[in-house]
Amino acid sequence: NEIYLNGLGGVVPPFPMGFAEWEARAEAVLPPSVWSYVAGGAGDERTQRVNVTAFEGWGLVPRMLVGAAERDLSVELFGTTLPSPALMAPIGVLGLCAQDGHGDVAAARASARTGVPMIASTLSVDPMEDVAAELGDTPGYFQLYTPTDRDLAESLVRRAEAAGFQGIVVTLDTWVTGWRPRDLGVSNFPQLRGHCLANYFSDPVFRAQLKRPPEEAPQDAVLHWVRVFGNPLTWADLPWLRSLTDLPLILKGLCHPDDVRRAKDGGADAVYCSNHGGRQANGGLPALDALPGVVAAADGLPVLFDSGVRSGADLVKALALGATAVGIGRPYAYGLALGGVDGVVHVLRSLLAETDLIMAVDGYPTLADLTPEALRRVV
Ligand code: FNR
Repeated sequence: NEIYLNGLGGVVPPFPMGFAEWEARAEAVLPPSVWSYVAGGAGDERTQRVNVTAFEGWGLVPRMLVGAAERDLSVELFGTTLPSPALMAPIGVLGLCAQDGHGDVAAARASARTGVPMIASTLSVDPMEDVAAELGDTPGYFQLYTPTDRDLAESLVRRAEAAGFQGIVVTLDTWVTGWRPRDLGVSNFPQLRGHCLANYFSDPVFRAQLKRPPEEAPQDAVLHWVRVFGNPLTWADLPWLRSLTDLPLILKGLCHPDDVRRAKDGGADAVYCSNHGGRQANGGLPALDALPGVVAAADGLPVLFDSGVRSGADLVKALALGATAVGIGRPYAYGLALGGVDGVVHVLRSLLAETDLIMAVDGYPTLADLTPEALRRVV
């Protein structure tokens, strides 16, 4: 409505209106190495592509005369009512997409303005306390890359709790970096240049492990980070992970029903179906194809989902397939590149406005109405 009414007065939106243009603009404004890092994926990026095209394999069946004049997109997650079922997926090294370098704080401000919760990555340019301080009344979650050092892991979680994050998302598919030719080809490891290690460099446990502080010897600190970054966890570690916090524990990267059942049995509060946007392993199943099996195995446990969501229609389909909430990834990073906080707000609001309009036109006024029954396979 806002856009149509402004249009009547000759005012056009300050940013483009769809993913293809967000992507094209982001490519035009970002330095090539940052663009390769954000846009790139594993191998020849087939998994990344099929994540997106998988949504084309489903169609929503319109229902008429439903009286969908009022829609309710709110959803309850961990005892909190969120205004919409969208989340900002964790994106590491986000700072590189922002003109002033402070992409995490900018994303947090966009979260506060839209009510879309941010899952703040461990790999941030801004320390988690600065990110949390910008979230206002919108809940935020902290995404943990579990270090090999248990004391450091515990310290990061304690800080996230103290900063006010309302859940811990443990990402399981990234204890080692994926084979990403676009990054490898340009020797583009922003992490290794210390661009996103603020949470480590500001951590008392991490600092105590260094001979000299990161401000004096940054390369030594980066090398130490390389040593402690990735913990190849096993199921035997789940009780320890669970014991780290009383906050909701969400396991990210689960695509197999058996893994979901084990996560549930091990005390996870939610599972997060995702293949990391095809950045970690090529040759995989589209995350959307894994979603129904994950939802069935979760058996009532909340299921978060991301990988390939590019439009409101995609959001609607993921919700109909059983996702409790849907993570937006690359689109908001592109929003950040093209307009800072305003750009992220624009991307999130556009995706939600389209979601809302589809629910109106197709006659599914609440999220409870969006079930697999609403979808048909497109052949
Ligand atoms: C990511 N993702 C990610 N996930 C995570 O748990 N921690 C992280 O630090 C990052 N970092 C990251 C950086 C960049 C540049 C991207 C694009 C993605 C994965 C992210 O949370 C999400 O799973 C994907 O972005 C979903 O795929 P699409 O929809 O963005 O293609």
